[in-house]
Amino acid sequence: MKIVVIGGTGLIGSKVVAKLSALGHEAVAASPNSGVNTLTGEGLSDVLENAQVVVDVSNSPSFADAAVMNFFQTSTRNLLSYESAAGVRHHVALSVVGTDRLPESGYLRAKVAQEKLIKEGSIPYSIIHATQFFEFVNRIADEATSGNSVHLPSVLFQPMAAEDVADEVCRVAIGSPLNGTVEIGGPEQFRFDELIRKALSARNDPREVIADPHARYFGTELSERSLVPDDGARLGKIRFDEWLTSSATSAKQQSATR
Ligand SMILES: NC(=O)c1ccc[n+]([C@@H]2O[C@H](COP(=O)([O-])OP(=O)(O)OC[C@H]3O[C@@H](n4cnc5c(N)ncnc54)[C@H](OP(=O)(O)O)[C@@H]3O)[C@@H](O)[C@H]2O)c1
Repeated sequence: MKIVVIGGTGLIGSKVVAKLSALGHEAVAASPNSGVNTLTGEGLSDVLENAQVVVDVSNSPSFADAAVMNFFQTSTRNLLSYESAAGVRHHVALSVVGTDRLPESGYLRAKVAQEKLIKEGSIPYSIIHATQFFEFVNRIADEATSGNSVHLPSVLFQPMAAEDVADEVCRVAIGSPLNGTVEIGGPEQFRFDELIRKALSARNDPREVIADPHARYFGTELSERSLVPDDGARLGKIRFDEWLTSSATSAKQQSATR
C-alpha cells in the first residue's frame, strides 16, 4: 500500500516510515523538509496521489495555546480535504491518553479539536491515544523546572518507548479503519515524580524533583489517573530501565564516533 506519513521526519514518524517500508509498503515521509506543509496545503495533492492511507504523526513547533490550536485545526482541515479529493481510505492520527480529561491544557484542547475534526469528517479513521514517550521525559522535566527543582504531582504515570508507539501505529495503519479510538501505554506504572527523578539521576542531572499535588503539567493540574490508560489498553514491551540503558549506550557510541 502507499502510506503517506505526515510528520515522517519526526521521532515517531521516522520509525513508522522505516517499519512500514520493511514490511514492503510504499511509505512516504511528508513534512516541510520534504516540501509538504499541512498548514498551507503545499505539496499535499502531489504526495497524496494514489495513497490509500495517511498516518498523521506531525506535531506543532509551538506549544503556546493559540499556536498549537491553530496548528492542529488548520493542518487537520487541510489534510482531510486533500485526502477526500485523493480518495484516501484511512486516516490514522496519534493523540494522547487523557486528552478529554484535561481541558485546562491548551495542548490537549488542541488535540481534542484535531480528533473532533477527524470524527466529524468523511474519511474512515483510527485514533491512537498513547501515553507519554520515554523520549519526552526530559522536556517534561524542563517544563516543570523552577530554579533548581522540578515540581510534579505524584500521580500515576505509564510512559512508553517511541519504538513501541511506532509498532502500534504501523499495526493500526495496515489494518481496517476502527472509526474509533484505541489506547496504548507502557508496560509498567510509576509515580510521576519517581519516574522523572530516575530519569534525571540517570543523566547525573542535579535538579531535585519535588512532589507537589498542585504542580501543573502543560497548564493543567492532574488527578491520580489523568495520564494512564483504562483497562484493555495495548501495552508496549520495552521497560524504562531497559530503555535508559540502551539510550545511554547509544549516546556513548555516538560520542565515540564523533
Ligand atoms: N510526546 C509525547 O509524549 C506524546 C504522547 C502521545 C502522543 N503524542 C503525539 O505524537 C505525535 C508525534 O510526536 P513526535 O514527538 O514524534 O513529533 P516530532 O518529533 O516533534 O515531529 C514532528 C513532525 O511534524 C512535522 N511538522 C511540523 N510542522 C509541519 C507542517 N506544517 N506540515 C507537515 N508536517 C509538519 C515535522 O516536520 P519537520 O521535521 O520537517 O519540521 C516533524 O516531522 C504528536 O501529534 C503528539 O501529539 C506525543
